[in-house]
Amino acid sequence: MPLRICFIASEVTPLAKTGGLADVAGALAKYLHAAGHDIRLFMPLYGQIDRSTLEMWPVEFLQDLPLRLGSHSLRFSVHTARLPGASTMVYLIDCPKLFERATIYSNAPDEHLRFLALTHAALLSCQRMGFAPQILHCNDWHTALAPLLLKTVFAWDTLFKSTRSLLTLHNMGYQGVFSAADAADTGLETSLSRLDYYETSEGRVNPLKEGILHADHISTVSPTYAREIQTQDYGWGLDGVLRDRAADLSGILNGVDYEDWDPRHDRFLPKHYSPTQMANKAQLKQMLQQRLGLAVSDKRPLIGLISRMTLQKGFDLLFDALPALMAERDFDIAVLGSGEARYEEFFAELAHRWPHRVAFHRGYSDELSHWIEAGSDLFLMPSLYEPCGLNQMYSLRYGTIPIVRRTGGLADSVQHFDPQTREGTGIVFNDYDATGVSWALNTALDLYAQKVLWRKLVKNAMAQDFSWQRQVGEYETLYEQLLAQPRKPD
Ligand code: ADP
Ligand code: GLC
Repeated sequence: MPLRICFIASEVTPLAKTGGLADVAGALAKYLHAAGHDIRLFMPLYGQIDRSTLEMWPVEFLQDLPLRLGSHSLRFSVHTARLPGASTMVYLIDCPKLFERATIYSNAPDEHLRFLALTHAALLSCQRMGFAPQILHCNDWHTALAPLLLKTVFAWDTLFKSTRSLLTLHNMGYQGVFSAADAADTGLETSLSRLDYYETSEGRVNPLKEGILHADHISTVSPTYAREIQTQDYGWGLDGVLRDRAADLSGILNGVDYEDWDPRHDRFLPKHYSPTQMANKAQLKQMLQQRLGLAVSDKRPLIGLISRMTLQKGFDLLFDALPALMAERDFDIAVLGSGEARYEEFFAELAHRWPHRVAFHRGYSDELSHWIEAGSDLFLMPSLYEPCGLNQMYSLRYGTIPIVRRTGGLADSVQHFDPQTREGTGIVFNDYDATGVSWALNTALDLYAQKVLWRKLVKNAMAQDFSWQRQVGEYETLYEQLLAQPRKPD
């Protein structure tokens, strides 16, 4: 049955991206639309969005509208555009005062206000368009106040009478906490007392927690992460609230948009390959080595790494382990990413010490990320925690063997290779310590040297299917289940 879905996200590929949330929002909207659903996708019209190639139209009745949040008087307009690479339309919330900033996210004191405005604007747009969503799907802390707004500020409107809300948790490490002194910015007005009392009495508003408390259902982006976040180690202080809502919490593994991520037709690559025609992968490796100033050799394994550089990604494990291993064994590394200074400095120093063995490109580049996926032999993700992770799944498709820690979506998408049975798709280690990651790297390098086994491993990896066409079905089932259930009582 086609459903009416209001989907709100702070970033959407290919318009604005800092990480996997954008890939998921863009692909999920695209494939839900392709499956016949009426999906209205809302995101901010950031200053960073390239308008020269994007054809946008102002939406009638949604121009220069007032929005009052606490003491802030804002005005916004809505434009619509076709999401590049898809037939889905996207609704862009235009509010230059909030969204034309130097970066997509910031540490500005009004960061919470920016995304509260997005959330309110999306719901107000539904009202003005007469669009009655059956599902309100919000994502991460930025839009997590939507379920509570639905029950309070928007409760009078019969348009939303059968709407069920779903909050997808992409990352518990970011909760969007702001000062209770700014609580009025939520626009809750006479319903301010509905905010979680424990948090406000401590002087905080925690948007992610509000979403967990009020959404009809909570999903995360892998089954393992859904279990992990109910424990103290992974819950970031919200494990208790999540345990209370365990009956309404589930995990759906993210998918991959193989139209964007497939070495058979990758638009960023000068050459293409497939499991039966691998010669071009070797050539792409050489081209990548040349491009990055690495020693050109087909014999030496090349390890790729593309990441936001934060505590989550597990690079602390590499501080001692990697230089030690570099001194012992023959392999090279291509690193792309940026983030916290200590990680950037570590990779910069490594590249300084071994200029022909380590390439560090500090920054963000979609194009280079595709090259590294294709031209590397191995891909390293030693994450401390990983709700889903996309690069390990991209790597599988590119025959670039993932080395991952057994956590979250990494555990659900990579199976450790067993040389006896010849089954498995990557190298998986358990313990978050230097011994664990060193073991994994050594195991990977040993396997690389055994060509018959290696070829089998690459074949297994490339045969994996994590397509969105499949994963969208899981969301459809969840939506249907939600609609068949009564709303969560207050
Ligand atoms: P997270 O969302 O936690 O950053 P994911 O693995 O889910 O992790 O998704 C990361 C996405 O962002 C991938 O598509 C990856 O290729 C991309 N990415 C991360 N850092 C960079 C970078 N420096 N340049 C280009 N793409 C990047
Ligand atoms: C988050 C997570 C990542 C996940 C992505 C998309 O940023 O860190 O693991 O793949 O969201 O769901």
